[in-house]
Amino acid sequence: MQLIKTIDEARRVIGQVRYDGRKVALVPTMGALHAGHMSLIQAAGQACDFIVVTIFVNPTQFGAGEDLGKYPRDLERASEMCRLAGVDVVFAPDPDQMYPDEPMTWVNVEGLTEGLCGESRQGHFRGVTTVCAKLFNIIRADIAFFGQKDAQQVIVIDRMVADLNIPLKIVVCPTVRQPDGLAISSRNQYLSPEERKDALLLYAALQECRRMIDGGCRSCPELIGAMQKVLGQSPRIVPDYVSIVDAENLKNIETIDQTALVAVAVMVGATRLIDNIIVDLNKPDDI
Ligand code: PAF
Repeated sequence: MQLIKTIDEARRVIGQVRYDGRKVALVPTMGALHAGHMSLIQAAGQACDFIVVTIFVNPTQFGAGEDLGKYPRDLERASEMCRLAGVDVVFAPDPDQMYPDEPMTWVNVEGLTEGLCGESRQGHFRGVTTVCAKLFNIIRADIAFFGQKDAQQVIVIDRMVADLNIPLKIVVCPTVRQPDGLAISSRNQYLSPEERKDALLLYAALQECRRMIDGGCRSCPELIGAMQKVLGQSPRIVPDYVSIVDAENLKNIETIDQTALVAVAVMVGATRLIDNIIVDLNKPDDI
């Protein structure tokens, strides 16, 4: 496995791989690798001949007062995990490689980024789409792999790729959960044992929603009310949003009669957690 720090070197190495006719997979990450990332790497290995993992804590997607400074950084550990997982290249640029100057060009996907996480994290998705567009241009992979846990992120990136005619397929892999249901996230490590227990209410709320839908409930206000009640079981949980939206355009819906995204974001103490399920009445539960 090669650890590459510069854009020129990444282009040279991956350009040769592409020239040799091999299929390149990209797994973009911010490091702090966990089982969710490992599932993306595994899917990448099944679909492609050459796996590139990018590790870059992207400053432009963090807002003021967010956890940019304390975001876990351990390149040695992450590289070793990648090596053991069969990754071919880890591309881990320093911030001045990716942003030598204050950018004057931003990629902004309108219409999909104002609601849900975009409402409380102003500028977040602009940072995500800008860095992803840059990474897509540098790596020039055939397929990029993202996790369903970041549901809005994948919908936004998918739309950016379509709108900008980027020759890249986006594959979305299922959310990986702990045995008790907590969605695996880099930010779980910030949680105290009590907060970790409270965080399980996100999963419980989504399960309650799924249970009510299976029981015939189609009213989004009713489903949202029930989820809020579950989250309300802990005074330490402060909901940011509990929403049911159309899974394509992310607009709020009143009734479940199409493919819906049920999405929850909360603060548990100082930690922001998100989780979601996709409800497709024609498909079995994903929870
Ligand atoms: O999901 C993440 O880890 C980040 O948002 C991404 C896609 C690597 C962009 O920085």
